[in-house]
Amino acid sequence: APSDPDLVERARAAKEALGGNVFVLGHHYQRDEVIQFADVTGDSFKLAQQAAARPDAEYIVFCGVHFMAESADILTGDHQRVVLPDMAAGCSMADMATASQVEQCWEDLQRVGVADVTVPVTYMNSTAAIKGFVGREGGIVCTSSNAERALRWAYDQGEKVLFLPDQHLGRNTMVREMGYSLDDCVLYNPHKPNGGLTDDELRNAKIILWKGHCSVHGRFTLACVEEMRRVDPEVNILVHPECTHEVVEAADYVGSTEYIIKALEAAEPGSSWAIGTELNLVRRLANRFPDKKISFLDKTVCYCSTMNRIDLPHLVWALEELVAGRVPNVITVDERTASYAREALDRMLALP
Ligand code: 13P
Ligand code: SF4
Repeated sequence: APSDPDLVERARAAKEALGGNVFVLGHHYQRDEVIQFADVTGDSFKLAQQAAARPDAEYIVFCGVHFMAESADILTGDHQRVVLPDMAAGCSMADMATASQVEQCWEDLQRVGVADVTVPVTYMNSTAAIKGFVGREGGIVCTSSNAERALRWAYDQGEKVLFLPDQHLGRNTMVREMGYSLDDCVLYNPHKPNGGLTDDELRNAKIILWKGHCSVHGRFTLACVEEMRRVDPEVNILVHPECTHEVVEAADYVGSTEYIIKALEAAEPGSSWAIGTELNLVRRLANRFPDKKISFLDKTVCYCSTMNRIDLPHLVWALEELVAGRVPNVITVDERTASYAREALDRMLALP
């Protein structure tokens, strides 16, 4: 639906009134009505890199989800404040690993005698507390665009990896990108004693995958890949690495949201593509490239409901509050957590 012209005008006017004092970041999964006001759009890696790009802007309005805004707060100066237009814009995957669960897992690894050779790696899609734990234990953050490089870095530091919280990104990177076997991976279930594993399983695994997943990407199935290929044998299947291992194995191309955009920019006119990622992005790409056949991999999968919470009314409200001199929905990470988390984020940003 086209956005309300009054709200568009109000957002434009508020942004103009704030001038260089506001910097709006937008993740690729945001709605069109919001993304049109972003100064920078990106995948989560690019947004982490860009967060500190405007040190003169007092306010960073983050159109994305909570863990991204936390990372922006960690990576920007003390004089800058990060605003999330709707505090309910969380991420169910990030919520699948709490700090106390991860500390318990680390104790399990200590008890079986392997914690000192295990390097924790966390996907960006995790709370600041988890990034803090990982930084404290000498580990690294990764995103979907650098998971392989981050894992290689981790195996240079130790023998084993604890990968948080997305089992699929961890498994897909280990097996598809790095040539390990499924037997090298075990799944740690935080709701079971010892993760539901024997001591030997914990001791012998090359990688311990946390039992977390994305509720959106987890819904693409092998059956929908096969159906797409049956209907159109020429189709290119392009999916995000948060999809399940069987979907990723059956796909032609796998990558982050930024990778997906670049792949479609480079695609031949007339070529056919089925995309397994969030619907706002797939729609935007289909509209942007009418000369390419771009479809959504599974019509029954919906938007990421938390990404979608940031809509134009919330953005207008946040911007107008800033114009009025109030700072709404500030995301702050306490300094102790932030300093450890920054170490883990900086290691990622320094990857070659
Ligand atoms: P990207 O880093 O690929 O943008 O992915 C972020 C995300 O939340 C995917 O679900
Ligand atoms: Fe989280 Fe999945 Fe939404 Fe990404 S798409 S923000 S991983 S719930």
